Amino acid sequence: MSGHIVLFASGSGSNAARIMDHFRDSSLARVVLVVSNNPKAGVIGRARERGVGVRMISSHDLDRPEELIGLLKEAGTDWIVLAGFLRRLPPGLVRAFPQRIINIHPSLLPAYGGRGMYGHHVHEAVHRDRATLTGITIHYVNEAYDEGEIIFQASTPLEPGVAPEEIEARVRELEARYFAPVIEELVRREAHNAHPKDPD
Ligand code: GRF
Repeated sequence: MSGHIVLFASGSGSNAARIMDHFRDSSLARVVLVVSNNPKAGVIGRARERGVGVRMISSHDLDRPEELIGLLKEAGTDWIVLAGFLRRLPPGLVRAFPQRIINIHPSLLPAYGGRGMYGHHVHEAVHRDRATLTGITIHYVNEAYDEGEIIFQASTPLEPGVAPEEIEARVRELEARYFAPVIEELVRREAHNAHPKDPD
């Protein structure tokens, strides 16, 4: 199996839960660990309910990530998926897993990305600007905020005056539909590149 996935999450964990469920019976990949920085995060219960281990981390672990990197390597981590993780990853961690860290952002990057643009702040800004389109971006994480190579985007049109809550609901629908399948496709592609089948 080439798909040992570690999820990083700070919040309710609805995306994380779907990813755990998506890969539960998969021979391709599975979620081996959930990492969280928030002791009150809903994702902790969701992981425990599913028998997935949880590792709590502190600011210190992110400032001095050597131990965390060691733990992730020991867990055989192939992919790190940020599913609503609200802290910036330290450069050392990003460098330790090049092109192996994936984030989902609730807008069509580069629009509404960067500092302070997370959760409801994104949808409020979209609403304020009377944007006619929003969506999701799944991208690799590099050392710059929300600027890694884009893997996938899906959009939804917005009619005039649509409320931030409704914008969020539509974006969440896109997340529910696409996040886990896009991860599966990446893992599949990578497994194929590592062990290409002999043509017959
Ligand atoms: C999602 O909207 C995701 O796009 C963003 O954070 C939110 C996480 O929600 N990065 P949940 O914890 O998965 O419910």
